[in-house]
Amino acid sequence: MAQNNSTSYAMIINRFGGPEEFTQVPLTPAEPGPGEILVKTSAIGANPLDYKMRDGSSGLCAKFTPPAVLGREAAGEVIAVGAGVDNFVAGDRVFGMRGFDDFRGTYATHNVFPADGVVRIPDSLDDVTAAGLALVGITATVAVDQLAKVKSGDTVLIHGAGGGVGQLMTQLAVARGATVLASASSRHHEKLVGFGAQHIDYTAEDVFEAVRQQFPEGVEVVLDGVYFDTFLPSLDVLAPGGRIVALPSLADLTPAKDRGIEAHIPAISNDTAIYAELADRVVAGEISLPIGLTKDLTEVAEVHRVLEDGHADGKIVMTVE
Ligand SMILES: NC(=O)c1ccc[n+]([C@@H]2O[C@H](COP(=O)([O-])OP(=O)(O)OC[C@H]3O[C@@H](n4cnc5c(N)ncnc54)[C@H](OP(=O)(O)O)[C@@H]3O)[C@@H](O)[C@H]2O)c1
Repeated sequence: MAQNNSTSYAMIINRFGGPEEFTQVPLTPAEPGPGEILVKTSAIGANPLDYKMRDGSSGLCAKFTPPAVLGREAAGEVIAVGAGVDNFVAGDRVFGMRGFDDFRGTYATHNVFPADGVVRIPDSLDDVTAAGLALVGITATVAVDQLAKVKSGDTVLIHGAGGGVGQLMTQLAVARGATVLASASSRHHEKLVGFGAQHIDYTAEDVFEAVRQQFPEGVEVVLDGVYFDTFLPSLDVLAPGGRIVALPSLADLTPAKDRGIEAHIPAISNDTAIYAELADRVVAGEISLPIGLTKDLTEVAEVHRVLEDGHADGKIVMTVE
């Protein structure tokens, strides 16, 4: 494991590969350019996309070349602002996600962000939660509201309901008035039932048989955060006119489209209005972002092993001393 022996550092990869590729390097914080802010990082959200960018399997890997800093989202304190920035001052706490054309990463003690790409953290929201909210929040919002258009009275089956995106999709769908069947292993039971969902333990029973028993006519929506073992059998439990959203960006939707089933993959982009709304909803107690694991940034290799294992116990966030 790398040692935190420097006050300003980044965790970089020098080539695509396994978690052991991470190396800690000293960092001279960049000056914020016009319209930018320099943030002293306090916490960094970790996402499955990060390991796919580390091992070279993400479609985004064609757009950058190691050595590279990985990571898409972070929270922290503004310590300098560039020319023309009038919406933030030093001392403000902010969180946000990098745009998908911005490959500067976030696994670093200091990060420069566009001032219009981040939002203020509400006073009563902690940095760890804020750091993990942007990417999973925008994905869940796009999946539930914009693509599946979940509405009151729908029955929604969610695969991967205990993970970072899944736990938010569950809450957003329940809030829309849907009946939510949340498939996850048993350790997520209390959390999912607390959200108002019906938990199905995919490790103990056949999820699709359980759905058929209860809803022989099928469900209106499937939100599939798992895909490999779940996408094809999900098509058979959709009601006529039903829709499916698969989360992995490289999911093949052809089997659904061949059967005339509406199918989507979320294509997410930065939306600060949605980040601010999600943060307000967390503060109001309407939704929550259970954190499954926090580790120091220097332990990023271990974090990536957990991400890659695919059984996260909620959102994973790294902290920065
Ligand atoms: N298209 C996009 O823009 C976009 C954005 C964000 C994420 N994604 C993708 O969406 C997927 C999920 O992301 P995430 O951040 O939520 O991942 P995550 O936090 O790692 O969660 C995955 C969850 O799936 C559960 N799981 C594994 N196998 C399962 C199965 N057969 N049935 C039900 N649950 C199962 C895991 O735990 P248990 O086994 O303990 O239940 C875990 O809770 C990833 O592939 C990610 O790359 C795509």
